[in-house]
Amino acid sequence: MTLNPNETVLVHTRAQLEAARAGRIGDVAVVMTMGALHEGHQALFRAARQSAKTVVATIFVNPLQFGPNEDFDRYPRALEADLKLCQESEVDVVFAPTVDEVYPGGDPLVRIVPGPMGEVYEGAHRPGHFSGMLTIVNKLINLTAPDYVFFGQKDAQQLALVRRMVLDLNLPVEVVAVPTEREPDGMARSSRNRYLSAQERVSALALSRALFAGATQAAPDAIRDAVREVLAEAGRAQPPVVLDYLALVDPRDFTEIADPGYAGPAVLAVAAKVGATRLIDNLPLEIGG
Ligand code: PAF
Repeated sequence: MTLNPNETVLVHTRAQLEAARAGRIGDVAVVMTMGALHEGHQALFRAARQSAKTVVATIFVNPLQFGPNEDFDRYPRALEADLKLCQESEVDVVFAPTVDEVYPGGDPLVRIVPGPMGEVYEGAHRPGHFSGMLTIVNKLINLTAPDYVFFGQKDAQQLALVRRMVLDLNLPVEVVAVPTEREPDGMARSSRNRYLSAQERVSALALSRALFAGATQAAPDAIRDAVREVLAEAGRAQPPVVLDYLALVDPRDFTEIADPGYAGPAVLAVAAKVGATRLIDNLPLEIGG
């Protein structure tokens, strides 16, 4: 289906995707999404637009990466609004397949195993999530055959795992990271923010506040202490911020930085629940830099 012959083309099947791509010359950049698009995705589209002749967006709420008690059913689906945002962002092709189109054999028996890096932090909290995520990312790379794939730093562990999969499986694609988009008060933009009530959003702001407090410190222990201080106060707020984890990790393998004299790249990450909504946020740091 063509929305406008010179603009964004919406396709639902692999055959339509191939037809939409045929005849286009030059590099292809892909931005993979689950829809409910916001300014964070727009930043990914902008970066993709600057790097490649053709920009493909995928919109697919991947059942494989949701646990049985997670929000797959209530995950926001807003195709019409998403298409409008894709058009405004000059996306060339939107691939929005059905579950049957993506998994023609039903539940896939063969999946990507994320290894130890996928078992900690988000992986520990969401068993199977990273296997489902890597499996769909691998499939979407196969289906869209891009030169570049763009991922937000907001999901830092996802980004690290995708990088590692591309390296370990020799996938012929370049992974490009795009900094997290934040609201003017510092809150990281996320599709799940729309679940928050006004009061919950006020409490949730403590996540970014804590990370920025950590970033003012120079050494690992002081960084963690500064974050904990802000989050301890947020834990007494109404509604409270219930901390799941605070992590200061090496971005290459997501191992915790234990050496108090560590110098090098790091990711400072938090996950917490506010009301019924679980939020994650992180900041990339250069310690001792
Ligand atoms: O980050 C997301 O939205 C999803 O995990 C992704 C990469 C689109 C895979 O379903």
